[in-house]
Parts: sequence; structure tokens; C-alpha cells
Amino acid sequence: MSLNIFWFLPTHGDGHYLGTAQGARTVDHSYLQQVAQAAERLGFGGVLIPTGRSCEDSWIVGASLIPVTERLKFLIALRPGVMSPTFAARQAATLDRLSGGRVLFNLVTGGDPEELAGDGQHLSHAERYEAATEFTKIWKGVLAGETVDFDGKHHQVKGAKVLFPPVQKPHPPLYFGGSSEVAHELAAEQVDLYISWGEPLDEVAEKIADVKAKAAKHGRTVRFGVRVHVIVRETTQEAWEAADRLISHLDDETIAKAQASLSRFDSVGQQRMASLHQGRRDQLEIAPNLWAGVGLVRGGAGTALVGDGATVAARLKEYADLGVDTFVLSGYPHLEEAYRVAELLFPHLQITPQLEQEPRSYISPFGEIVANDILPKAVAS
Ligand SMILES: Cc1cc2nc3c(=O)[nH]c(=O)nc-3n(C[C@H](O)[C@H](O)[C@H](O)COP(=O)(O)O)c2cc1C
Repeated sequence: MSLNIFWFLPTHGDGHYLGTAQGARTVDHSYLQQVAQAAERLGFGGVLIPTGRSCEDSWIVGASLIPVTERLKFLIALRPGVMSPTFAARQAATLDRLSGGRVLFNLVTGGDPEELAGDGQHLSHAERYEAATEFTKIWKGVLAGETVDFDGKHHQVKGAKVLFPPVQKPHPPLYFGGSSEVAHELAAEQVDLYISWGEPLDEVAEKIADVKAKAAKHGRTVRFGVRVHVIVRETTQEAWEAADRLISHLDDETIAKAQASLSRFDSVGQQRMASLHQGRRDQLEIAPNLWAGVGLVRGGAGTALVGDGATVAARLKEYADLGVDTFVLSGYPHLEEAYRVAELLFPHLQITPQLEQEPRSYISPFGEIVANDILPKAVAS
């Protein structure tokens, strides 16, 4: 089994607890660089960089991390409504060239009418998907080297082209997630990989089956991914304790406020996330090892797989058995949790860390065995 495991850059904040300023951490370039470099060193294939008014800009964050990483890929959230498709393609080609083919894009149609209106987007959910479909056709066409004339309802371009082509052909991979019927149509017709938030297995299975069937009508195949948080510890009991701790400073008023503000979203995916916990903190294990606590206050990905390394690996393999080959994982705080995931989970997924150098040989300062020393077999046995 070959899985692609991505990590997440917390460009909207990070910390030890959800829904409180306590234990919160400043997210600046130096910190994002630390998370990105840790992810690269530990063996993650790439990092998802989100978009929205509550995040640092995904393109700029991605560009700023190219020179401080070597292999790490950047899955950059791309909002079709706020830029022209030709301009977005030109930027994508530039980033692809400057990074030596290390960028991918995650198409984000958006789901918060208030935020969208602020960005000058006043389209209904259905119209937004029409516009996103037109956008994608132009974006892919020009990146593939075509000169595009397109006269759509939302986008009209004439002689659109990209003169400096991307490294990856025909275009950097295009990922996308959305749970509405129109989202599945878009995925089936346009994208390379459809990504679902971490819903229970049977629900993800239904979405995969639907997108597959719709793609077949277009004579296409689509790959599949899952975006989910993880809380991995040495024992499953410790992992559940860590999950409880994550929401230990979260009061009912904060949950109610967050849910009220998320309820204005017209996103089917967001509604599905909210229905998993229904604002209640007493029934959060909604499927074996799948915990809906993050969604009590966080929009978007709201579930976490909780357990020891072997258990979480087994749960991931259940999604993989449905045809999922890519996971975008995260955990709070993102630096420490990247290490926990790599050390406790990766050995069960046969993922090897990409260390820059061989582990140093055993040294015993002052004759003591200190933490992190790597014992040669003779000494260890
Ligand atoms: C993996 C994944 C990542 C997403 N990333 C973002 C993001 O960075 N910013 C954002 O505003 N919405 C993000 N979304 C939300 C979707 O763009 C969109 O709001 C939602 O899925 C609406 O579509 P639906 O009604 O078809 O579900 C993401 C969704 C998924 C599945």
C-alpha cells in the first residue's frame, strides 16, 4: 500500500487547546517554516495551505516556503471567485517553475456567504459552482498550453494563454472537496483528486461511489483523499485523554457562538460536519476512534482519529480500502503533533523519515545514556 500523507500549515493560528486564548501560539513566518521543515524532515509528502479571510494568504505562504524546503510539496488553496482564471493559471505556472514542480492546488468554492460577499462574490451556491466549473476549464486549458477562447455565463476570455509553462504536465494536480451534488459533478468532470473531510466510513464510501459513477459518465477516473485531524499517543487511553484535554478550556457559550456563526454557511459539507456532533460534547466518538470534538468550534475539518499508532493506522487503512490514497492530517499544536504522528503512526504505515543525514552514532557523554541517543545493536541488546 502506497499512501501520500500530507500535513497542514496552521496559517489561522495554533495552540494547545481549542476555543481559548490559553496556550495559543503566535503563528509567524518563522513558525510556519519550522512546521514545514519538520514535515519535510519527518517524511510527509506535502502540506495543505488553507485560504480564507481568517488565514494568511495561501499563495504567499507557499511561495515564501519554497527556498527553505527541498522536497516538500505545497497544496495551495485556490479560490476561483477572487481572481481571474488566466491570472491564477499564470501564478500557478510560476510557482510550479520556481518550486521545481512542487505545487498542487486545492480548489475552494467557499461556503460562508458573509465572507464571500466581502470578497465581492454575490452568487448563489449553484451559481458559484457554475462559475468554478468555467474557471477550472479555462485554468486547465491555458496551463496545458492551449490558447483559450471561452464565452461562459460567468467568465469570458479571448486568446487566454500562459507563455511560461508549468513543470508538471498538463498542469499541477488539482484537488477539490465539496459534499453537494454539484460539487460531485465538478469533481467528476474536472479534478484529479476528490477529498472528503473525515466522515464515518460508510458516508465516505457513498461519496466515493457517487463521484466515481459520475466520473465514469465523463469517461474519467478520479483519485480520492481524506482530510482529518489525528491524535496519536503511545496508548489509546492517552490519546483519548489528549482529546479531552484539547477541549478542556472550551465552554458551552463558546461552542454555541461558533455553531451559530457556522450555521450561516451554505456549504453542504459544513452542515454534514455539524450534524456529526450537533453541538453536544457528550457524544463525540461518532464511529470507532473517530472524534467530532474539533468541529465544536472549528469550521471545516472537524473530526480526528484518536488512538495509538497501530489503531489509527488500522482506521486509515479502512479508508484506503475504499480507494483513498491520500490523507491530509493535522493536530494541535502542529509542530509537536507532526513529530508524534511521524514517530508513532508512520512506522505502522511503512513511511520512512527523510532524514538529511544518517542518525549519528552512539555517544555517551560523561558515561550517561541520555535521551535521543541511538544505541548500536550491541549496546541496546
Ligand atoms: C479538504 C477540504 C479543504 C477545504 N479548504 C477550504 C479552505 O481552505 N477555505 C475555505 O474557505 N473552505 C475550504 N473548504 C470548504 C469548501 O471550499 C466549501 O466551502 C464547501 O465544501 C462547499 O461545498 P459544498 O456545499 O459542496 O459542500 C475545504 C473543503 C475540503 C473538503
